[in-house]
Amino acid sequence: MHESRVCTHPAAASAEACREPYDRGDQALEEQVQNALNLFLTMKNPAQMPALLDILEQVKPRVQAALSGLHYVHFARFLPTRDGSTLLVITEYDGDLDAYLMDFVAVLGDEFNAILEFVEGAPRLPVQQYPRDFCDFVTRNNLAQVKAWSAYPEKTVIEIQGPRRTLPPAVAEPAPANLDLADIQGNILRGYRVSHARHFALAISDNAGARDFINGLVCGDERLSPQISTAAHWQERPAYFLNIGLTWDGLQAFGLPADTLQCFPAAFREGPAAESRATPLGDTGASAPANWVIGHPEAPVHVLLSLYADAHQHAAFEQQTCRLRQLFTAHGLRELSCFDASALPHDQVHFGYRDSIAQPRIAGAPGREAADMQPAASAGEFLLGKDYVNQYSGNFIGDLPAALCDNASYAALRMLKQDVRAFDDLINQAGQRHNLYPELVAAKLMGRWRDGSPLTLAPEAPDGHMSRQRLNNFDYAPTAEHPTYYDDADGLRCPVGAHIRRLNPRGALVTGKPYSRRIIRRGMPYGPAFDPGQADDGIERGLLGLFICADLAMQYEFLMRTWVNQDIQTRGLQNSRDPILGAQPAEGGQFVIRTGDNRDPIELTVPRLVTTRGSLYLLIPGIGGLRYLGSR
Ligand code: HEM
Repeated sequence: MHESRVCTHPAAASAEACREPYDRGDQALEEQVQNALNLFLTMKNPAQMPALLDILEQVKPRVQAALSGLHYVHFARFLPTRDGSTLLVITEYDGDLDAYLMDFVAVLGDEFNAILEFVEGAPRLPVQQYPRDFCDFVTRNNLAQVKAWSAYPEKTVIEIQGPRRTLPPAVAEPAPANLDLADIQGNILRGYRVSHARHFALAISDNAGARDFINGLVCGDERLSPQISTAAHWQERPAYFLNIGLTWDGLQAFGLPADTLQCFPAAFREGPAAESRATPLGDTGASAPANWVIGHPEAPVHVLLSLYADAHQHAAFEQQTCRLRQLFTAHGLRELSCFDASALPHDQVHFGYRDSIAQPRIAGAPGREAADMQPAASAGEFLLGKDYVNQYSGNFIGDLPAALCDNASYAALRMLKQDVRAFDDLINQAGQRHNLYPELVAAKLMGRWRDGSPLTLAPEAPDGHMSRQRLNNFDYAPTAEHPTYYDDADGLRCPVGAHIRRLNPRGALVTGKPYSRRIIRRGMPYGPAFDPGQADDGIERGLLGLFICADLAMQYEFLMRTWVNQDIQTRGLQNSRDPILGAQPAEGGQFVIRTGDNRDPIELTVPRLVTTRGSLYLLIPGIGGLRYLGSR
């Protein structure tokens, strides 16, 4: 790939340092970041074309407002053919169509519904309810093109428009959902804040036995079996928590009918080890599924059972482990593997950062998540159910049976090995080479100091005295609600490519719908704390846990594919990947630090710091869904 110098500091925009190299030649088109959508819509009745054009004229202001909020569409136009048989929708946009079609559903769903009423072979409507049908339809009818020329092949909408000049409209708080807490598994809505987790990966060899096992977990009688923890309030803190997730192979092993199994979204059906999914997510080389210790393609996991307890409940933890193992044996469940995770002091993860600060607030959910500067996320972003509306005004349950999927969620289990020595070398060597304090380098990579204080609020030095609420009460740009907020468009405080800013750009200018693609994180470190005196101890350590959402492709995979590993279209991210998580090239990836003190941007070379050791895609059914499985 052509190496262009990343330079987005506005003060330097006209300076020599920012000039494009001259040697692009005929490589230019290969690098074109803009893509064309040429959507051919065949009319049911050509005589209705004038009526359709009238509608398009009426909705024009709404289309303009919606597209200008996405920051990746260069232009859009509607073009009727002379005979009225076809309407062409032509747009030029930055990046990857697949990733962004859901944004169109969110911001232009009603307008597409109105257009598609006139169209032959239209997908099921409303598009908000059947977004995947809409995406397939658009992909099928998007006609091939020959890219001939672009005046600015490497320029995205964001780069062309420059820093934001007007405040974006206020984002409405979604209506609180009426959540059935006693039916929802506890790990979805609660951070248990325990110190130990044990994950059992199981394979079903006898589906009648597996049904009995599941029935036991939700029978309500603790004497017969450990019970699944729900999100319902408790009077007394339980001695342990237990949750369960099933892979698509697991649902198949339960004998669900083929037509039900086919209703699940492709991501869940195929799973994270499928090459077409693993490669764009960065699970290649040492991180490839062939090397995984959990979720290896040749050892399919059906069930993941996760047991959690506090350190002082060690006896209960071991006792429940024994009971579960007896139940596995009695019910024909084979334990393929078992992995433990244990909290480090002060909520730290292995690179020494404090974690477990930012989680989405969910409209209608109880919880201690402090109000931050972001609107609450809709319950439908995390839960399946006809009444759980997502941000697209639809819901993610689709045609799945309510008996199985009401109150369910999806999760990606990730086991991620961290190379702490390489991380320490990186911050120390970069500090030396660029005359920066290594702690500042660490903060720039993450977007938070290692004590958790965000660079956005504490740009100069960590602020060890911030309240928990304050730690998450920030945004990267002024918003309608907070117009005086500092605009960090250039990443002078928090680099645009820092881990937390990539994975949740909040209200900053970013390609796509702001405050979208949220995810709930339930991870815990595994392996002992790193001792620099024993740097070559040969012991594996990392992060193990669940990343929870209601649509794996649109939330979890989008984060990993686009924001972590591929984003070429947002200012400040070109040719770089997430410095913490990214699948960096063998020669190292690039990370840019701007200090705002008239120095050129500092470019660090970052090695791959995290290796994937395993992954599973899980359905986390509600209690009713588990009973349904048990009764089949
Ligand atoms: C070993 C791997 C990882 C490490 C060491 C790590 C570390 C951290 C730390 C220290 C924070 C800041 C604490 C906080 O804001 O709560 C954070 C935030 C976050 N991480 Fe990671 N993380 C890892 C993997 C992942 C993965 C796989 C994802 C998702 C695909 C992810 C998504 C996020 C998100 C969404 C945030 C919160 C951003 C915000 O809302 O401001 N992380 N991570």
